Amino acid sequence: MKVCVIGGANVDITAVSRERFRARDSNPGSVRLSFGGVGRNIAHNLALLGDEVCFVTRFGGDAFGQMLQVSCRGIGMDLSLCETCPTLPSACFASLNDCSGEMIGGVADMAVTESISTEWLAARIDAVNTADAVVADTNLLPETLAWLIDHVTVPLFVDGVSGPKAIRLRKALEISKRKRLYAFKCNALEAETLASVTGFTRRFVSRGAEGLDVTEDGVTKHFPAFPCTVRNATGGGDALLAGIVHAGLDASVEEAARIGLLCARCAVESDEAVNENLKNLSL
Ligand SMILES: Nc1ncnc2c1ncn2[C@@H]1O[C@H](COP(=O)(O)OP(=O)(O)OP(=O)(O)O)[C@@H](O)[C@H]1O
Ligand SMILES: [Mg+2]
Repeated sequence: MKVCVIGGANVDITAVSRERFRARDSNPGSVRLSFGGVGRNIAHNLALLGDEVCFVTRFGGDAFGQMLQVSCRGIGMDLSLCETCPTLPSACFASLNDCSGEMIGGVADMAVTESISTEWLAARIDAVNTADAVVADTNLLPETLAWLIDHVTVPLFVDGVSGPKAIRLRKALEISKRKRLYAFKCNALEAETLASVTGFTRRFVSRGAEGLDVTEDGVTKHFPAFPCTVRNATGGGDALLAGIVHAGLDASVEEAARIGLLCARCAVESDEAVNENLKNLSL
């Protein structure tokens, strides 16, 4: 299956203090760099599942942007529709965490992803529509998402990203002409934001350890999560959506949920947001 993923690719800088964090002081600890972004994670998972992936984003014009591109190419993504923006830094999320594992705070700079405009996408939309399915994340601005809802001619899946960003999908549906997309995936928190949204064929609401609810034609079915030992829950939802898309457009709700939940289990069982073992998963 050929999938086009449009969304964020960012560098995550995660600092963890070795001892109790002291504000206004330098704290000894670890500082690690990894690659994230919901769109990038979904594209990564799809590539591991063996799908042909075209990833569409704007990279920052700095060293992080170069690193992200090298990594995405190495994973096997087609980056021919991407662009490097010389004037903006790479999308980045820097977080500060206490020795207990709790996040003290974080700063997200997604300006380069938000610089993806409708004009920029219009120049690429014919190529985007050659895919069997398109996935977008709500790192894109509401106007951009609305334009995609109106101009993507193949089934469009949208990931809600976070509570505040999920609101963008609601706004996008309001301002779009078509007011309808194939599917959206959100977690329980994002679902509160999107409770009133009706313009979808399928809605997937992940509920962490409790699993997944899928709504189609006004009927909601619940699918429990596969039992597992969680090492890092981050990225479970991204793998879930990749699995749902990978299941194909003819898949029943049951089959899409089963494959999605198998991929989610694989992701949460690894320390990283994306588990390379997804390549070996028998579905
Ligand atoms: N504690 C857990 N135990 C078992 N499975 C889990 C657990 N947490 C997550 N999962 C699996 O991952 C799926 C997605 O998790 P969740 O609802 O947290 O999504 P999310 O918040 O979108 O995740 P992320 O945005 O970090 O990728 C769940 O439906 C479930 O299958
Ligand atoms: Mg998520």
